[in-house]
Amino acid sequence: MVKDIFSSTFVCSDTTFRYSYLMKNSYPGLGPTSTAKNKQTSVIASINNVKNANLVAARANKNDEFYTQWVDIEREMGAYLEFAPDVFRDKVILLPCDDPEWSNFTKYFALHFAELGIRKLISTSYAPNSKPSEIEYQPSLFEVEDPKFDKVKTLSRGKKFMLENKDVTGDGVINIEDLRWEYLAGDGDFRSVEVTALRDAADIVVTNPPFSLFREFLAWLIEGDVKFSMIGPRGSLTYKDVFPLVLDGRLWLGKGFANDDAYFRVPNSNAGDYAAGVYDPTTQMVHFRNAVWFTNLDHGRRHEPMQLMTAEDNIRFSKHKQVRGIGYQKYDNYDAIEVPFRDAIPSNYAGVMGVPISFLDKHNPDQFEIVGISGNGSVPKELLIPGQPKYDRPYLSGNRKFPRLLIRHRNISI
Ligand SMILES: C[S@@+](CC[C@H](N)C(=O)[O-])C[C@H]1O[C@@H](n2cnc3c(N)ncnc32)[C@H](O)[C@@H]1O
Repeated sequence: MVKDIFSSTFVCSDTTFRYSYLMKNSYPGLGPTSTAKNKQTSVIASINNVKNANLVAARANKNDEFYTQWVDIEREMGAYLEFAPDVFRDKVILLPCDDPEWSNFTKYFALHFAELGIRKLISTSYAPNSKPSEIEYQPSLFEVEDPKFDKVKTLSRGKKFMLENKDVTGDGVINIEDLRWEYLAGDGDFRSVEVTALRDAADIVVTNPPFSLFREFLAWLIEGDVKFSMIGPRGSLTYKDVFPLVLDGRLWLGKGFANDDAYFRVPNSNAGDYAAGVYDPTTQMVHFRNAVWFTNLDHGRRHEPMQLMTAEDNIRFSKHKQVRGIGYQKYDNYDAIEVPFRDAIPSNYAGVMGVPISFLDKHNPDQFEIVGISGNGSVPKELLIPGQPKYDRPYLSGNRKFPRLLIRHRNISI
């Protein structure tokens, strides 16, 4: 049965085929193949009755169903592995918003289970009836054909999938065939006592959580004191409850999506919710430019120093007209200079510099210290110029500037 869902999926080296195979067979909101359809029709009819009876009024937020592509997971995990090849060795890994019947996170870690030396992989899914959006739900053959299948529980309970270093099938190898599953007691909400207990037993948590619960999810990870890698909206970096983690070096950006282009698959039923240009009906994907990976796992990009010119050379040669021939201005209200572009950071300025927030994409903590951020009360008191009326944003000659990250060189290179 596991084979039905996974085997042709995993042996194929072509990600597209692997993905579309799985989508056709088990993706919520997409039709099954004709064979699968025959087997599922009667079950689905009776499930829909239960679902309709149980459904509470349609919930407003439909935007938590975005499914991450294999290639993006591979790229991000690859960055951690390149820096520390044993990062997942002997670790318990929890994927708390991931149904393996369609999650590429589960498939990625299950496929590489032995090679990465993972001790235990646990993946939990969220009950269809608890999801805020009313997407069409069809249980997969993997579940329907299992003696444990229950047409009421499949809607109201979350599921837990486990892969351990145990050869359950006795075929001499540990692989996806050895995966076991069960219904959770509750709906699989990551905040529930049972999923929180799984977090507490995990070493590393990896997922793309519901965007609408990003802050709660991050707080849940921090409370659990685990290593993590998660996708989220870039703008949240500056939030009052998120930025202090950046400041303390407890959270940073991962390697990120190629060219900052993130594509996520969405259920058919949500396709109409997007503006023109965001959803592509041919690929069934949405395109976002503001999705990033947040992590506390180390990777090589954090240790690449930015190549910078001195202040004098920037004034002579900078490609930016705001700097070339002009130099750097001091803010009216902060004891810091304005550096409007990341590549115009002077290599020899010892004081505090206000730089675009996108600096964090290239931040090397050995090269720079982050000292604060404008706009959320995170500017250190000693940088505030007394007598200035406003501190929410940096001001230059009375003009309000963009929000800025405040940084300082750790070592000056002259
Ligand atoms: C952005 S999607 C990502 C799914 C999967 N991690 C992936 O990347 O393909 C987030 C998933 O979390 C589920 N979810 C929503 N609220 C949840 C909650 N409170 N606890 C656990 N999962 C939740 C959503 O239904 C959705 O399937």
